Amino acid sequence: MRLSVIGCGYLGAVHAAAMASLGHEVVGVDTDSAKVERLARGEPPFFEPGLEALLKRSEQNGSLEFTTDIAAIADAEVHFICVGTPQLPDALGADLTALVGAVEAMVPVIAPGSVVVGKSTVPVGTARRVAERVAAAGATLVWNPEFLREGHAVHDTLQPDRIVYGVDTLAEAKAQGGAVGIVDGVYRTMLEGGAPRLVMSYESAELVKTAANSYLALRVSFINAISDLADASGADVLEVAAALRLDDRIGRLFLNPGLGFGGGCLPKDLHALAARAGELGVMDTAALLAAANQVNETRRPRVKALAARALGGVLAGRRIAVLGLSFKPLSDDVRNSQSALLADDLVAAGAVVTATDPAAVGLARVSHPGLRYADTVGEAVADAELIILATEWQEYRDLDPGELAGWTRARTLIDARCVIDSARWSTAGWTVLAPGRPASVPGGSAP
Ligand code: UDX
Repeated sequence: MRLSVIGCGYLGAVHAAAMASLGHEVVGVDTDSAKVERLARGEPPFFEPGLEALLKRSEQNGSLEFTTDIAAIADAEVHFICVGTPQLPDALGADLTALVGAVEAMVPVIAPGSVVVGKSTVPVGTARRVAERVAAAGATLVWNPEFLREGHAVHDTLQPDRIVYGVDTLAEAKAQGGAVGIVDGVYRTMLEGGAPRLVMSYESAELVKTAANSYLALRVSFINAISDLADASGADVLEVAAALRLDDRIGRLFLNPGLGFGGGCLPKDLHALAARAGELGVMDTAALLAAANQVNETRRPRVKALAARALGGVLAGRRIAVLGLSFKPLSDDVRNSQSALLADDLVAAGAVVTATDPAAVGLARVSHPGLRYADTVGEAVADAELIILATEWQEYRDLDPGELAGWTRARTLIDARCVIDSARWSTAGWTVLAPGRPASVPGGSAP
């Protein structure tokens, strides 16, 4: 099938390449010419494992072009809207400027009978307005939220755990040869592979996405709230989490305590849902979501307080190495990264921070200019008095305490993501401090 993808960021670039790899003819459109040029050369414009190989595969199986010219979408049967919907600069709600811009740009170009598929994350109530606008061009809208995780985007796009279609009316969904059938044709490989497909109203489909991300945020904040209780009572949050995970009703994932959630999705989707709940007058829901955000906002001050404790109460003038800047491992994304923000907080308190990251140093240099940067762990820790593991990249989890001790005079590690085997590190002569966990010191007693 001939498809267009409007917006080639983390969502659209992967979606365009994935659809072409399934054998479709795809044209991706973005207003950012530098991004378009890189994608056209088969180079991912951001760090995403597997994307480069997918871009290559897509050229072999289907066809894939990128352009800044919206007219190039004219003969596509299906148009995917994948533009960003960031948080408004001065409010909690979502900024729909790019979405409105994309819809207005496509309406004069698209063919009657074509299908527009909304994948961007939007506040509930948006799709119905977009549907009216594309109806003016004789097109039909299906709202099809995307659930991909950065770092696993290729897998999540090609092997989704569910496919959701929001439609205007169920009668339309059942119509033979209608929009739903056309989108089924795009996703045939995934549907034949057994991906569950749920058809529902526009409003439900919009809400599924923000509810999913907000629930994940609630879980992270819940375990972090328990971490505060662990600190206050002498419990170890990791022992509590390990036992919680064995309860099938609770489940294993998204119970990792530490610095809290960041990135381009969870924080803004939680804010946007809280704002929308307020607008709709559903105040208890708004308060629940606001509380989850509040718990998240207190994570960095907690780790900063641990740093001050490790350095005898004074951060000013002290040298701290921060390992990890991206908002999570396997990503170069520093948007709302708690790790990079923590490094800034320490600098604001007068500390001299040298930070490193396997992928995110380039982007962090631009958005966090107050930090010093190092390319390797060895360089970052060379003159540090304290080391903070801020993003749990596997290579930092695998650090050898004996080897690290040879590179630095620091002997205290703050494990801000609660991922280090603290007994092993304290046996090797380190003091390990982690939020929600008893301190682990050489010899075994608290400092
Ligand atoms: C998220 C959703 O998972 C995905 O379905 C949606 O499409 C986009 O938003 P992503 O932003 O890539 O994906 O990150 P995710 O893996 O959800 O992690 C979000 C944040 O939560 C990270 O900062 C991570 O470090 C933090 N986190 C996650 C925790 O602190 N503890 C956990 O247990 C899990």
